[in-house]
Amino acid sequence: MPSISATAPGKVILCGEHAVVYSQPALAVPVTQVNTRAVVEANPLGHRGQIEIHAPDIHLNAQLSTLAADHPLSVLFETIRSELKIPQFPSFRITIKSSIPVAAGMGSGAAVSVAVIRAVTNFLGRPLDDRRTSDLAFEVEKTYHGTPSGIDNTVIAFARPIYYVRNKPVEILKVSSPFMLVIADSGIKSSTANVVQDLKKHWQTEPVFYENVFNQIGVLVQQARNAIERGRLEDLGYCMTQNHRLLQNLDVSCTKLDELVSHALHAGAFGAKLSGAGRGGNMIALVNAANSEQVEQALKEAGATRTICTTILSNME
Ligand code: PMV
Repeated sequence: MPSISATAPGKVILCGEHAVVYSQPALAVPVTQVNTRAVVEANPLGHRGQIEIHAPDIHLNAQLSTLAADHPLSVLFETIRSELKIPQFPSFRITIKSSIPVAAGMGSGAAVSVAVIRAVTNFLGRPLDDRRTSDLAFEVEKTYHGTPSGIDNTVIAFARPIYYVRNKPVEILKVSSPFMLVIADSGIKSSTANVVQDLKKHWQTEPVFYENVFNQIGVLVQQARNAIERGRLEDLGYCMTQNHRLLQNLDVSCTKLDELVSHALHAGAFGAKLSGAGRGGNMIALVNAANSEQVEQALKEAGATRTICTTILSNME
């Protein structure tokens, strides 16, 4: 039997992180310059249910049965098995490799889930559509960080720019003119679960303040969506920078991210903000072909450990 491989892209959140957990809308785009690849090969000599996992990036070389039941990969395989309603998997080896930075707000966990779900279900001749793939990945996301909004698994499974509100059907964002983002890594690892949990505690003690900020972020997201649909780069940039200020009010930024944002703006970016959970991870800067190199250079000089330049293509005729 030939090997079957599947990939899933990274992602960044354009506007609306954190507020999206509290039912405000958010915008996210796939980042195809980084991805996770899962390759499944039959293991004819193995016994039924024997799955060998090779994941060099996390130094994991193990039989699935030896992992703890609450290990994200155990949860992932159990979720797939239960979806397919099969008593056991046939024996196979799966290799998982990823170029998506971990704990950096680029959806590395959701991309592993999506790539593995696709590779395994295709291998078994039972492929799932994007919606179902996203739903299964969401089950696994819950084991990474208790109350995920579902935006990561959705944008990664659909691999298209999205407008997302939790528990509502996803809307594909209409992009009238292409736009470019420089993504810069602060080099600081940050746990989404911890930041989301911390914010939840603050919200519980001061709900009026926090809900007001979430509402303001929601308004910016609608404005950013309009800007993208009308091809207004300056307006989108304004929304992004304002969104960063509100994320600072939520206390999810950090000195390094604030520095990267102000360097990007000084170098001519139309807007800039942290992206993802914050307190580390990546920030994004909205640029065009004329200033992208200058902004990328400024971010490197300001200490970004890695930069990626990505273009979000128009999807309208
Ligand atoms: O996984 P990250 O770091 O991109 O964060 C996801 C965005 C949050 O809004 C902070 C959490 C969520 O579940 O939406």
